[in-house]
Amino acid sequence: MVNYNTLCAQLKALTENVPHEVANLANASALLWHHLPDINWAGFYKMENGILVLGPFQGKPACIEIKVGRGVCGTAVAEDKTQLVYDVHEFPGHIACDSASNSEIVVPIHVDGKIWGVLDIDSPNVGRFSEEDQAGLERFAAILEKVL
Ligand code: SME
Repeated sequence: MVNYNTLCAQLKALTENVPHEVANLANASALLWHHLPDINWAGFYKMENGILVLGPFQGKPACIEIKVGRGVCGTAVAEDKTQLVYDVHEFPGHIACDSASNSEIVVPIHVDGKIWGVLDIDSPNVGRFSEEDQAGLERFAAILEKVL
């Protein structure tokens, strides 16, 4: 079980009053990587000129650009809604960056009322992410929104 209170407190302490986007995202992805068991990718995609572009992450190299509406990440943006995917192979249009991935969660991140980008986490385990993870990761994203 992940202690999201501890994780969120650590993110807040690491990012509060830090006006450096790449530094904050890099530290956030490192925190997730070290706290969440059974994951193989954790990182960010940022909206740039209408396309999601790869940001700081932990894990294997990943696809660089994702169009809105494509894959799990692009769907999270198109629907402006967290995508909790039990089995990525059942998700129409899933983009397989790492063939080890079997489940995924993507949380939209907002700045000034608009979608800034997404937090994306992959797991080699089918059904790795629960609604409790979703609630915890949405809190995690809300802390980041204050410094982006
Ligand atoms: N699986 C994602 C692509 C990004 S990688 O998982 C890092 C998707 O379908 O949008």
